[in-house]
Amino acid sequence: MTPVWAQVINLGAAISFIVALKALSSPKTARWGNRIGAIGAAVAVAVVLIVNADTKYLVPILVAIAVGTAVGLVAAQRVKITAMPQMVAIFNGVGGGAAATVAVIEFFTVGATGGLVFLIATVFTVVVGAVSFTGSFVTFLKLQELMTSRPVVLPAGRWVTIAVALAAAVLSVWVVVAPSAPVLIALLVLGLLLGVLFVLPVGGADVPIIISLLNAFTGLAVAASGYVLGNVMLLIAGTLVGAAGTLLTRLMAKAMGRPLTNTLFGAFSAKATQAGTSVDRPVKSAGPEDIAAMLGFAQKVIIVPGYGLAVAQAQQTLREVVDMLTARGIEVDYAIHPVAGRMPGHMNVLLAEADVPYDQLKEMDEVNPEFSSADVALVVGANDVVNPSARTDKTSPIYGMPILDADAAQQVIFMKRSMRPGFAGVENELLFDPKTTLLFGDAKESLTKVAAALKNH
Ligand code: TAP
Repeated sequence: MTPVWAQVINLGAAISFIVALKALSSPKTARWGNRIGAIGAAVAVAVVLIVNADTKYLVPILVAIAVGTAVGLVAAQRVKITAMPQMVAIFNGVGGGAAATVAVIEFFTVGATGGLVFLIATVFTVVVGAVSFTGSFVTFLKLQELMTSRPVVLPAGRWVTIAVALAAAVLSVWVVVAPSAPVLIALLVLGLLLGVLFVLPVGGADVPIIISLLNAFTGLAVAASGYVLGNVMLLIAGTLVGAAGTLLTRLMAKAMGRPLTNTLFGAFSAKATQAGTSVDRPVKSAGPEDIAAMLGFAQKVIIVPGYGLAVAQAQQTLREVVDMLTARGIEVDYAIHPVAGRMPGHMNVLLAEADVPYDQLKEMDEVNPEFSSADVALVVGANDVVNPSARTDKTSPIYGMPILDADAAQQVIFMKRSMRPGFAGVENELLFDPKTTLLFGDAKESLTKVAAALKNH
């Protein structure tokens, strides 16, 4: 029985998680919210250790915590902002794996004596935690470009997945009805396999939704492991992560314009897409002087930032160019697509680093009607989020995703290094449009040259 003092502290920690989630929903309070949540988690861990101080495993537990903390601290400090989603994926996977491991160990200790609900919670934790572990790992490989980010469709992949899922369902019932350690281990293996089969066919544009979904899975697995261990804090924290992850998944699926079922099950029938071979088609390119002139003569400019802006770390230079334009009385806005970059809110975070005022950032629904009255849409390191094939090409992996209507502007300028496609691996017709001009090069270098040209203009 948990002592009353520990229950009171746990209640405080649970409240801190809820306050943290609330604060994380605004860039102004996010840092503060993150700290509150971290303090709550640290306190909850300390309470468990104090209450169970007589355990013979105290030393290995403390060593494990020290190793985990050191790895987490170093990784979080070193990670580049563009690699954040990979880190989230891998940390999330480790969480799912930990929940599954705990449930297996607890099953070995308690076994059939735990009762029906214990067995159901154990089976659930093992399967969902294992799926999350390997699924997140495959997502990591895709995002880190250690494997292709396009759908990987295995021969008869859909049927293999259905067969493995059915086998996992049968073994789950088996473990609940007639508890057996070897069957539980077999179930664990099937869960691990299912995670791989589940994520392999998910391609390019849908990866962010899957990260969020796996995050929700880990939350649910952790919540169930809280039941298995009789730890209320795990139950609360896991449920919060599960609920927040589910909401985020729904929001992202909506932003991508596709029902969640389409992402999950549509993927099984997906065909691997070919990257565009655009090298032989003519495009119009110009130098920084010409681009500065186009911008300098405009009355209204809409900036479309994307992943390349983060890669080039050009946010500060972009802001300097925008400041020069606004000083000339030119109206400038930033159009923020919900999945621009590689994580939710990526562009907001990036532009906040350069102290861009929030009121210059406009969300897709608000800014789209503005493009038709804009003289220039300046696309900096973005690609998929302005690709018109999302509207018309049913075979495109991004078909159905709402896009920024950059093609409605009088002129479109792209700043990118080459004709390579974006994350989804599909060619962008807008690059070949007669109203489009390309300035090839790293976004930071290009913007620096444009800023210099604007000074003399
Ligand atoms: P992308 O479509 O990936 O296009 C980025 C463009 O930036 C590329 O065309 C690339 O062309 C250019 N680029 C890269 N480095 C550059 C540099 N140093 N200087 C200038 N340009 C550079 O990006 P997007 O339009 O932001 O779309 C986001 C995509 O990522 C969507 O498909 C989305 O589904 C996916 N995704 C989003 C998330 C979230 S939640 N935001 C998470 C994972 C995946 P070059 O190589 O020719 O320079």
